[in-house]
Amino acid sequence: MNDLFHPIMGKALKQSECSENFFLIDTLILDLIAYKNAIFTQDWFPYRGAWVHFLAHEQVKNYLEIGCYEGRSTLLAASLFRDAKLTIIDLFVDPEAEVRFLANTKHIQDRISLLRGTSQKRLAEISDKTEFFDLIYIDGNHFYRHAMMDILGSWPLLKTGGVLIIDDYNWDCDEFEDLKPKKATDQFLTAYSGAYEILFVTNQIALRKLKPEAAMFKVGLL
Ligand SMILES: C[S@@+](CC[C@H](N)C(=O)[O-])C[C@H]1O[C@@H](n2cnc3c(N)ncnc32)[C@H](O)[C@@H]1O
Repeated sequence: MNDLFHPIMGKALKQSECSENFFLIDTLILDLIAYKNAIFTQDWFPYRGAWVHFLAHEQVKNYLEIGCYEGRSTLLAASLFRDAKLTIIDLFVDPEAEVRFLANTKHIQDRISLLRGTSQKRLAEISDKTEFFDLIYIDGNHFYRHAMMDILGSWPLLKTGGVLIIDDYNWDCDEFEDLKPKKATDQFLTAYSGAYEILFVTNQIALRKLKPEAAMFKVGLL
């Protein structure tokens, strides 16, 4: 991974510095812009400052998100990628979160395609959109089986050159080993070695897709 220059801190970024606090100023500025009038009960997106730092110059026309809850990550994406169409999948385990999501995103509803239901079903339904999305954010069910299905189901939908972000990759939680997407992510990273480069690692991991899936299979068959 290359050294990364942080414009506000004025120095190159080390992995150890990829913490929530390191991006505090980016986060504060972003919050003022993206979350005006929004109402949240939870913050499940504390590492969002890294998105400003690393992704602000990405050309994102089509954005896919699995797990929107009250819309914190959706609103950030809408703000960072002003021309993007936003495809949002959520089961809405908490029905009140859906009410808050709809209220928080009312002003951008013409940009949103909300697919209610499990990511497993919804991803299968949009699987004809091969290499369609420029950025995919996975923040749904974190259990191993679900995380694996979300990663494998999303990857073919991501354009070559696009970015996949997986939340809670480095979740510092010893108690619920099964609840971490790390195992599924690491297995994917091994199996798809050569098909991506790592853009950044905070609590999240971001991968840029380097090769179309067909090319991977071809290499495997030779
Ligand atoms: C941690 S929250 C997402 C937080 C959100 N990204 C944010 O920035 O606030 C996880 C969301 O995933 C949804 N979810 C859980 N399991 C799911 C599944 N199998 N398919 C689709 N959505 C799911 C939940 O309803 C919940 O809204």
